Formats: sequence, C-alpha cells, structure tokens
Amino acid sequence: MNMKKHVKRGLWNHLMKSGVEMGLASIIYEVGVASKYVNHAMRTGDLGLAGTSNLYGEDQLALDVVADEIIKDRLDHTGRVSRIISEEQSEIIIFERQNRSGGYSVCYDPLDGSSLVDVNLSVGTIVAIYAGDDPLLSGCHQVGAMYVLYGPRTTLVYGAGNGVHEFTLNNLGEYVLTKEFIKVKESGRIFSPGGIRRDYLPEHEAVVKKLEEDGYKLRYSGGFVPDINQILLKGGGLFMYPATTTAPQGKLRLPFELNPMAYLVGLAGGAASDGRRPILELDCYDLDQRSPVYIGSREEVEMAKHYFNK
Ligand code: AHG
Ligand code: MN
Ligand code: MN
Repeated sequence: MNMKKHVKRGLWNHLMKSGVEMGLASIIYEVGVASKYVNHAMRTGDLGLAGTSNLYGEDQLALDVVADEIIKDRLDHTGRVSRIISEEQSEIIIFERQNRSGGYSVCYDPLDGSSLVDVNLSVGTIVAIYAGDDPLLSGCHQVGAMYVLYGPRTTLVYGAGNGVHEFTLNNLGEYVLTKEFIKVKESGRIFSPGGIRRDYLPEHEAVVKKLEEDGYKLRYSGGFVPDINQILLKGGGLFMYPATTTAPQGKLRLPFELNPMAYLVGLAGGAASDGRRPILELDCYDLDQRSPVYIGSREEVEMAKHYFNK
C-alpha cells in the first residue's frame, strides 16, 4: 500500500509547511487542543445555567463558562498571548507575562450559539488574533483567525494570510487536513436574513425581498458559525444580521464574531460590510461593540450595499 497517499496532513504540519510564525502557529494549535476538551464537555457535560451572567446581561450556561476557562488556560499556556477579550469576560484580561516581547492578543467567543446546544444544533468557537498587546483594533490588523464548528463532525478552519483551510477531528483526536485554499464564489444561491422581519428597516427589507425574488434559498440555523461555514463550503451566498428598529447596531459583536469571520471570508475571496463600510475597516473601540453585517459572496454584498447607498 502506498503510505504516501494515505498520510494525512495534521494541523501542526500544515502550519509549519505554510510558514506561519511559530508564536501564531502555537496559538492556532492550542485553540485546536482546547476545542477537543470543549467538544467533550458539550457531548457529556452539564447543559444548564451557570447561575452567572456576562457583560451583556445574558445568562451564562455552564458550557459558556467551561469553554471560556479551557480556551483561556490554553492561550495562557502558549506563553505567547499578552491580552485577551472573551465574550464571557467583562474586561480585557492581561496575562502575567507582560514583559514578553512579540506577544499576541486574542479576541474569542468560546461558544457561539451556546443556547442551541440543548436542542442539539451546531455551535462554534470563533477566534481573532492580533500581533502585539492591543486586542481592540480594526479587523484589518488581524494576523490570523479561526473557528471550530461542533457539528455532526468537528471541524477547524483557520487562515493566517495564506489561504483558508479546513481540518476534521478524527477518531484518534487528530485534526487532519480536509480542504485547502477554500474559495467563496463571486455569487451563491443561499441567504440568511437574520433578525425579526417586523423590525426590519426599509433597506434591509428591500435586500431580503430582492434575494427572495431572485430565488435564493433561505438557510438560517441561528448559529453564526454553521451559517458562515455553509457559505464558505457550499461556495457562496449571503449571511446577514441587520440593524433593526429594536437593535440599531444589529446583534453580532465586532471583536470576536464579525472581525474574525470577515477576515476568513475575505481571505477566501468573499466580502463583509456593515452596509456602507468594510467590516475590517470599522474602528473597534469597545469590547461589546456591535455592527450590522452583510457577509459572503462579493456580488451579493455589493447588491446589499446598493440599497444602503441610494
Ligand atoms: P451567542 O450565542 O454567542 O450569543 O451568539 C449567537 C448569535 C449568532 O450565533 C447567531 O447568528 C445569532 O446569535 C442568532 O440570533 P437570533 O437568535 O436573534 O436569530
Ligand atoms: Mn456569539
Ligand atoms: Mn457565545
């Protein structure tokens, strides 16, 4: 048997072969290690409330807190991270090793869509990585980003300047390369509307109406990670979470939800806008900053922007 054919590329091997800087590679790899523990906790652990709430006043699930602790510890373990922002922490966390030069800062959502776990729908971990000691930067300064999707299979997707690549967790607990240089087509066939229709502003209403008239299929799971993953891997489409009459800044957070996904979708040839400006160019000045989002295939993002710039 020709072993060469059957040798699967592991995550660390791919990071090294892709020339990813050692510190950045170790952060991506360690989030991969953390995700195996999160994966295990989710499939075996407590799905109930932790009895605490986060910065947004949202009840924290035990899983939100467990996932946050696991990822925070692994990031600290790398010895390369100086500051983190987490959806589950109310302030920027500084790691003791402040005197270490050449550190990184990380913004992450340990478990996005966590309220979907108890109905057995897919959820994810989302991570943005910056060089240096400041995690509150415009998304265009990211040096890497990744997500882990806990679905029927557990997959890890990362980008660090040289393409977007997917790895699948095998039954030996290894992440093996399953897709390399993922590309978002210029135009797709699916859309995710976001929000509640009665609260739509006229511009968003017009965008959704246009997509429906053009025969796009509605795909909306309530989980940002699986919904974006579907657009990336099904080759295109448009995910939206709009400004509404009740939430003028939309729902999704810039530091650890929109910026990392905008980085990955952009690296794969797609686009991400708030309806007027590229997501990656928005000033990031607050941990809990939200923005409307139109992200996916370039043609659909341009079509949406047209309605906001009339
Ligand atoms: P989180 O669970 O981290 O708060 O994020 C959930 C987000 C995102 O996953 C999804 O796209 C969006 O909430 C769905 O919001 P609605 O339930 O309002 O549709
Ligand atoms: Mn989230
Ligand atoms: Mn979350």
